[in-house]
Amino acid sequence: MSTPVSATDSQSVRFVLDGKVVTVSGLPPTTTVLEYLRKVAGRSGTKEGCAEGDCGACTVVLGELSQAGSRIHYRAVNSCIRFLPTIDGKELVTVESLEAPDDTLHPVQRAMIDHHASQCGFCTPGFVMSLFALYLNRSAATRDEVVDALAGNLCRCTGYRPIIEAGCRMSEYLEPERWSPAEAQSKARLENLRAVQRVAPGSTLCFSGYCAPRTLDELAAALETAPHSLVLAGGTDIALWVTKHLRELGPIVYLGDVPELQQIRSSDAGLWIGAAVPLSRAWPALVAAHPALAEQARRFASPPICNSGTLCGNIANGSPIGDSLPALIALGAAIDLRHGARLRRLPLERFFLGYQKKDLQPGEFIVGVALPPPRPERYFSSYKLAKRFDQDVSAVCAAFALEVADGVVADARLVFGGMAATPARAAAAEAALAGQPWSLATVENAAAALAADFAPLTDMRASREYRLQAAGNMLRRFYLQHTPAPPTLRTADALVGMGLAE
Ligand SMILES: Cc1cc2nc3c(=O)[nH]c(=O)nc-3n(C[C@H](O)[C@H](O)[C@H](O)COP(=O)(O)OP(=O)(O)OC[C@H]3O[C@@H](n4cnc5c(N)ncnc54)[C@H](O)[C@@H]3O)c2cc1C
Ligand code: FES
Ligand code: FES
Repeated sequence: MSTPVSATDSQSVRFVLDGKVVTVSGLPPTTTVLEYLRKVAGRSGTKEGCAEGDCGACTVVLGELSQAGSRIHYRAVNSCIRFLPTIDGKELVTVESLEAPDDTLHPVQRAMIDHHASQCGFCTPGFVMSLFALYLNRSAATRDEVVDALAGNLCRCTGYRPIIEAGCRMSEYLEPERWSPAEAQSKARLENLRAVQRVAPGSTLCFSGYCAPRTLDELAAALETAPHSLVLAGGTDIALWVTKHLRELGPIVYLGDVPELQQIRSSDAGLWIGAAVPLSRAWPALVAAHPALAEQARRFASPPICNSGTLCGNIANGSPIGDSLPALIALGAAIDLRHGARLRRLPLERFFLGYQKKDLQPGEFIVGVALPPPRPERYFSSYKLAKRFDQDVSAVCAAFALEVADGVVADARLVFGGMAATPARAAAAEAALAGQPWSLATVENAAAALAADFAPLTDMRASREYRLQAAGNMLRRFYLQHTPAPPTLRTADALVGMGLAE
C-alpha cells in the first residue's frame, strides 16, 4: 500500500504524508482522496457528510511547492471531491497529522476545546482543518477572515459563535513545535516535497485511464491523440458526476500539472488567467483589476472549493448559472483555445451555443481567459441573487458594463445568468438603453424590455416571474449606484418607479 518509490515511477501516485513519501497504484483514477484515506489508509478522522463539497466534514489541507520551489502553499480542500491522482507531487495533511509525539494539542485544537466549539464532533475535524489552513497563512486572522475561511463548513449542533471564537483566538496560544507557520516551511518539509516532484524525463504520471501531462505541448498532443478524453481541471463539477450520479468516466487528461496553465499575467494589454489557476488565485486578480467584483468573489463557493476549482472550469462547464460568466462577458473577455498545434481566440459570449452546447471541438481545450484592460470611465457592477449569502447557487446573476458620454448611454453590455439556457446578453434591453439619456425613465424602459429578451424557467430556486422582476431590479440598482445626480432625490424617484413608495 504505502512504500517509498523511485523518482521515475510514472504509474503510481506519489505524495507526502506525515513526512513520508507514499506511493499508491492500482486504484481507479476516480478514487477520491476521502475514499483513499478512510478505506485504504485507515485514517477515519476525516469524515464524509455530503460527498459533494457542501458540508466541509471531509476538509484536508494540501501543501504545494511554489513555482520557484522555495515555499509551500498550504490550502484547504474538500477530499470528497478531489481525485487521488491529482494530489501527486503534493503534501497531504489530515487531522491525524496534527497529533504531536507528546500528545499536546495543536493551538487550533486547543482553542476549539477551550471555547466549547464541538458537541457531537462529526463536523469538528473539518472545522479544525479549515482553521488550520488559516493558521498557517494568517498570523492573527481577523473575525471576517475566520468567517470567510469557515464558509464551507457546516455544523448542525454546536452553533457557529464558539467555533468562530476559537478561530479568532487560536493565534494567542504558544506556537507548537510541529505545524507552526515557520515549521510548515522548514527545510525538511521542502525537501520531502521536492523529492516527489516529477522532473526526470519520462516520469509523467500516466496510467490506465489517467494522464497528467507536464507541458502544454504534451497536453495538446494527448488530447489530439485521444480526443474523447475528459479534460479534468479542479474536478469540483466532474467529481460530483461520480460521487452523486455514479457515472463511469472515460479516460481522463488532467491539466493541473502544466506550469504554463498556472500562470496569471497582468500587463497594459489586460489580464490573462491560465486554465489551471484555481479560483482562489483567479478571483483576487480579477478583483484587483475590477474592484466591483469583490462581493461576487466572496460569494463564489467556499475557500476549499475555490482552492481546487478553476475559472476556466467554470467557463468550460457551460452552465447557465456559472457565476463568473456574466461578469466576464460584460467585461469583454475572450478565451484562448488550442487543438493540437492550432490556437484560436474566441469572444466568450460566442462560446455558448445552447444548453450545455459549446463551441469546443473534441480534443480542443481552453488554455486561458483574457480580459481587456479596465476602463475607468465605464460603470461596472455584478450582482448575485441567491437564498444564502455563502455557498449557494444563484437564482439570477447579472453583470452590467455601461459607458455614458454627455449624459447619454454610449455603450451597454447587460449580461444575465439563470435567465436562459446559457449566460446571455439582453439585446432588447441594451437597445432600449443605447443612445438614450442615462435616466430612471430609460432604465425603466430597459427593465421592461427584459421580458422580450428572456423567458426564464420556474424551478426550485425561483419562479419565472420572480426572476424577471429580480433582473429588472438589478438594473434599477445599477442605475442607483451609478447615477451622478444627488442620491437622495434619485433614490426617492427610483423607489416611486419601483412601486415601493408614493
Ligand atoms: C460545493 C460547491 C459550490 C459551488 N459553488 C459555485 C458557485 O458559487 N458558483 C458557481 O458558478 N459554481 C459553483 N460551483 C461549481 C464549480 O465549482 C465551478 O463550476 C468551477 O469553476 C468548476 O471548475 P473545475 O476546475 O472544478 O472544473 P472541472 O470539474 O474540472 O470541469 C468542469 C467541466 O469543464 C471542463 N473543463 C475544465 N477545464 C477545461 C479546459 N481548460 N478546457 C476544456 N474543458 C475544460 C471539464 O471537462 C468539465 O466538463 C460549486 C461547486 C461545488 C461542488
Ligand atoms: S463530505 Fe461534505 S464537503 Fe466533503
Ligand atoms: S458538533 Fe455536531 S455537527 Fe458540529
